[in-house]
Amino acid sequence: MKKKSLALLIAFTLVFTFALSACGGGSDESADSGEEKAVLKVVTEATFAPFESTEDGDDTIVGFDPDMMAAIAEDQGLELEWVNMEFDSLIPALQSDQGDIICAGMNKLAGDRAEKVDFGDTYFESDLMLLVTSDSELTGIDAVTSDMKLASQIGTTGGDMVQAMKDEGKIADGVVLNQWTDCYLQLQNGEVQGVIVDKPVGEAYLNNHGDIAKFVGDSFGEHEEFAFAVQKGNTELLDKLNAGLANIKANGKYDELVDKWFS
Ligand code: ARG
Repeated sequence: MKKKSLALLIAFTLVFTFALSACGGGSDESADSGEEKAVLKVVTEATFAPFESTEDGDDTIVGFDPDMMAAIAEDQGLELEWVNMEFDSLIPALQSDQGDIICAGMNKLAGDRAEKVDFGDTYFESDLMLLVTSDSELTGIDAVTSDMKLASQIGTTGGDMVQAMKDEGKIADGVVLNQWTDCYLQLQNGEVQGVIVDKPVGEAYLNNHGDIAKFVGDSFGEHEEFAFAVQKGNTELLDKLNAGLANIKANGKYDELVDKWFS
């Protein structure tokens, strides 16, 4: 009798497991977002190489963030579609249901961002640096004088900093632009004397423009933690993204991508 019920239990377990895997159970992709939101919209601002950028004449967004998110999506059985927009539109896009995920080298510690969207686990740490032309005599952010102009991107930590410096009378103007590429152009054209930029992003720029630009001084500002974000309360999606991030960190994929984009 005992043996018989054990056999029954095993048979039942086998059938049940088979049925579950046959209908894709386990990864529960079909649970609720399945039908209506099969493809998740990831919003970003793609002038922030090596995290995200587009190549001339091509809309495809490439960089560490798309590669990392693709690896997470593969791990979790998710499908992603990328949308490029201005940086200060990213949080409003999630709030107005025009996007499901932000992945844009966004510092989760800045301002009141965390009150508007839910951030995942940190995937990269950063600081701000002052980028100047190679012939500049500036020695660092503290050496900037009230006749100078600094640029950075609108809606970013650097953008907020140049605006604050302008408000405090420390600089003549804080130029906040939509694209990092325009910040670099303004620097090259002598319209501004410096650009406040995230260290790994400035480093990538210097890899190709080391002859015309340089960093001066130490990093400054608040320490930054980059994280992806989802709409407030979407813990189901956030849990998956965090689980995927943990998995690609554990299996070496994450390190492979760091090597690919930051070495
Ligand atoms: N780390 C800075 C911030 O969070 C700048 C991010 C800019 N990212 C971008 N994809 N343009 O404000």
